[in-house]
Amino acid sequence: MKDLIVSAGKMMLEGSFAVHDKEGMANFVTDKDVEIQKYLIRELSERYPGCGFYGEEDTEGNQHESRGQCFYIDPIDGTTNYIFGYNHSCVSVGESIDGKMAAGYVYNPFTDEYYEARRGEGARLNGRELRIRDRGLGEGIVAFGCARYNEGDRVFRVLEELFMRSLSIRNGGSAALDLCRIAKGSNVGYVEMKLQPYDYAAASVIIEEAGGEITTAEGREITLDGPCSIVAGTKAAAKEIRRILGC
Ligand code: IPD
Ligand code: CA
Ligand code: CA
Repeated sequence: MKDLIVSAGKMMLEGSFAVHDKEGMANFVTDKDVEIQKYLIRELSERYPGCGFYGEEDTEGNQHESRGQCFYIDPIDGTTNYIFGYNHSCVSVGESIDGKMAAGYVYNPFTDEYYEARRGEGARLNGRELRIRDRGLGEGIVAFGCARYNEGDRVFRVLEELFMRSLSIRNGGSAALDLCRIAKGSNVGYVEMKLQPYDYAAASVIIEEAGGEITTAEGREITLDGPCSIVAGTKAAAKEIRRILGC
């Protein structure tokens, strides 16, 4: 899997791209998003005939299947970062079996960081095993996500408290990378009030296999058939974030 995910990610670094609008405020897609998703669907279909896909972009073969094997694809997570040259975006591919997350792969071509995890086999960053130390909110950085196309974002009402109770807050512009940073130990927690399965599917396995937690704001299991809110972190930090949200 590594070769495929890395070659997909490296496509971000090649050539130029055009930007197009999607539905809603400040919601963009580039030719690269579409090109990378098409490439992944083509290659994964060859390797795993009959598998399903839950990809962000509207491309041929993007057909969700809750039974058997299904791949959750975000071809570029951090599209706005990508358009504006932030050099902080990734390709994210999660794999589910019979509706349960089984594996996750996230690659940032700008830093050459490759995260992978399979259920029961631990999480790795460039081959190094990841183990989360159960730090509280006050011992680390909390990241949050927001998007103009998700109107009336409720995350803003808790940011001051998250800031005051942690070492600092960040908005990285790529939910998948901010979630993986929990497994790496760079973030102690993450919160976003509405995300899509292709944003968090891969990272959910990486976080859990590293010993962290990912749930909805209410503490329920994340959903794989549609969007939900996301609170993730070390077990201690995730609990504090949920309490601050008061859901
Ligand atoms: C977005 C990014 C962003 C998050 C948004 C996502 P995209 O994904 O992950 O960090 O806050 O909610 O939609 O559009 O760049 O794939
Ligand atoms: Ca995304
Ligand atoms: Ca995307």
